Amino acid sequence: MPIPTIHVGCTHFAHGRLQAQVNSQGLQPVACVDINLEAAREGVASIDDAPEDLAERIYTTITEAKEKHEAQACLIYASTTVHAKLFVESLNLGMHTLCVKPIATTQAEFHEIIQAHKANPGLMLVQGQNKRWNPAAAKMREWLQEDEGIGEMLAGECRFWIRQNLYTGPDSRQPDAYVDGLFFHAGTSHQLDQLVAAKGLPKYVTAHIHNRRDPALGQIHAWGTAGGNALMEYANGAPFSYTGTRAGHASPFGWSGHWSFHGEKGDLRRDAGHLQLFRLGKTVEDLNLQDLHAGLIEDDRLQFDAFAQAIANGTDRDWMQDTTLGTWILMEACNESARTHERIDVETFAKKMLA
Ligand SMILES: NC(=O)c1ccc[n+]([C@@H]2O[C@H](COP(=O)([O-])OP(=O)(O)OC[C@H]3O[C@@H](n4cnc5c(N)ncnc54)[C@H](O)[C@@H]3O)[C@@H](O)[C@H]2O)c1
Repeated sequence: MPIPTIHVGCTHFAHGRLQAQVNSQGLQPVACVDINLEAAREGVASIDDAPEDLAERIYTTITEAKEKHEAQACLIYASTTVHAKLFVESLNLGMHTLCVKPIATTQAEFHEIIQAHKANPGLMLVQGQNKRWNPAAAKMREWLQEDEGIGEMLAGECRFWIRQNLYTGPDSRQPDAYVDGLFFHAGTSHQLDQLVAAKGLPKYVTAHIHNRRDPALGQIHAWGTAGGNALMEYANGAPFSYTGTRAGHASPFGWSGHWSFHGEKGDLRRDAGHLQLFRLGKTVEDLNLQDLHAGLIEDDRLQFDAFAQAIANGTDRDWMQDTTLGTWILMEACNESARTHERIDVETFAKKMLA
């Protein structure tokens, strides 16, 4: 039996996520929520194979949708600046909740979510991170975690290079253009979530943001929106370095980035969907796997089915919750380091964030 679910956000990126939910086996949309009812009705009407009458079940608040329909889970794909408020509302209505990254844009917002979760500890709390689910990402994770991969990680790096315009229309811009600190939370999180999913949190991080201002791309006022560098140190002493920019002039490896890892037993290289495993100077495996799907709908379908399995059977429940929250914490630790020019003890910082 699919889990009855409320879907928040019905246009733009959110619209494709509703399609992903309809395509999933584990979740079933019973109602939608959007403050723009007219656009939402149009959006829902164009979903393939949507449940009958779903377009008649659109409300402007999660509370109203939950009053009218029995739902156990909620997916939040509204605008970034309202995530934390909607997350708290959904948890307090008793629903397992997955909200697309970033679930919060400040430490105070993150604390509000954690307090709502402490009041409802049986509910799942997930930051949506859709780039860890495709076959290429899953294979990288396998080679990082399992004996037949690289063995113990000794060092690694990730480079991310894309050209992203923060203008969405003549008078509109993505929140990343005016909310501080969203490069790490909304750009880097797509790559480093895959590191956290495989290797957990590093012990320390030191980070810097790029001070670039590019009005043509909407990089005008906000701090920490153009790009960033971070050096992470794992408990065994392994360093991992990251460099990312939104101001690149091409997109050689897309949102997945370019990766290399060195381990005790071997070395790994990944350029988007191309993965190679080396051992003792020889190529042991050379694979081309599906990386991100066009429109990311299949990526989110995989994520939603994993969320449903975690709710229904407990499959990977702690891993999904702890590592996606861990990604938010690590991204905020990068911001903290870049603001204070300090090396951050991530374990201590995580305890403070989760207190
Ligand atoms: N993971 C990814 O790959 C990825 C890619 C693109 C966007 N995103 C994120 O997805 C989210 C949605 O992106 P978008 O471009 O669709 O955003 P958007 O601003 O267009 O909002 C989507 C919908 O949410 C509705 N909405 C706004 N405030 C609301 C509220 N308080 N209650 C209910 N509905 C509300 C809007 O009316 C709109 O229909 C953003 O946080 C964005 O950063 C993630």
